[in-house]
Amino acid sequence: MVHLLFTTTLFIASLPLLAHTYPNHVKACRSYCGNITLDYPFALQPGCGHPGFRDLLFCINDVLMFHIPSGSYRVLNIDYAYQSLTLHDPYMSTCDSIVLGGRGNGFAVEHWRASYLTPASDNVFMLIGCSAESPLFQGFPGKHLPCQNVSGLGCEEYLGCPAWDVIGPKRVGTVYGSGPPECCAVGFDAIRAVNLTRLECQGYSSAYNVAPVRISGPDGWSYGIRVRSCNALIILSTNMASSGHNSRVLDLYDCLDDIQSKLKASHTAVMIMF
Ligand SMILES: *[C@@H]1O[C@H](CO)[C@@H](O)[C@H](O)[C@H]1NC(C)=O
Ligand SMILES: *[C@@H]1O[C@H](CO)[C@@H](O)[C@H](O)[C@H]1NC(C)=O
Ligand SMILES: *[C@@H]1O[C@H](CO)[C@@H](O)[C@H](O)[C@H]1NC(C)=O
Repeated sequence: MVHLLFTTTLFIASLPLLAHTYPNHVKACRSYCGNITLDYPFALQPGCGHPGFRDLLFCINDVLMFHIPSGSYRVLNIDYAYQSLTLHDPYMSTCDSIVLGGRGNGFAVEHWRASYLTPASDNVFMLIGCSAESPLFQGFPGKHLPCQNVSGLGCEEYLGCPAWDVIGPKRVGTVYGSGPPECCAVGFDAIRAVNLTRLECQGYSSAYNVAPVRISGPDGWSYGIRVRSCNALIILSTNMASSGHNSRVLDLYDCLDDIQSKLKASHTAVMIMF
């Protein structure tokens, strides 16, 4: 999808070429941690990478760690093509084990970083054992409205995992009255922060869709938190004042809010590709 916010001249440029054209104010500084390659916008050294991702990643004994206020996570993978990181929280429930007692990190980032890092829209958070008083269930009398399937992933199927056999009875009722459901699936947009303390939940699981084709069965799902590093892939700007074909990449990882302020501040034509 290509959005043209404001334009005089439209440049069609090839993506691979642009991807190697960094803006002046950032440095690429490729580095490695274990078998993970760190490249722009991520970096380990100060002064490298995009400012939105500073003090975020640490390499400890060849293990890449991701640190945000809700906790530290192991980075399983960085997908530069999809602009995403896959995180692992050892206290997250999976199909093989259910972790209760509110030990899971969940996911919450600093306010200033929220536009740079957000769980992917096809990532489902399955909140487990939340109290009836949980903010999750407030304002929806009569039904558990916020609970839904995300990208075909949800609690109905998750509760079929073998790990639940040892936990006991399962409730995923859609009608209030018999208490809250044992598991409630939501997308990140619905809650903005997965904070087990605030949501009064015992645990959580998180899974995402890797393929366009839906994988059958919760034992085949990918468990982890898939976080996207912003929406806008490429921002191509053309200075209106210049007559030549003088386009440049403004900032590979700017987010939409930033683009709007840039548009107001400068007379530029901006093309955004998603
Ligand atoms: C989670 O919520 C609790 C209670 O509201 C709060 O004290 C804590 O700071 C929150 N944690 C994060 C990481 O936002
Ligand atoms: C890195 O190595 C681990 C095993 O040590 C493997 O599970 C993982 O898939 C590898 N990751 C990448 C990005 O190659
Ligand atoms: C979620 O998907 C399952 C299996 O496809 C289906 O049975 C269930 O009704 C769906 N739940 C919601 C809340 O849409």
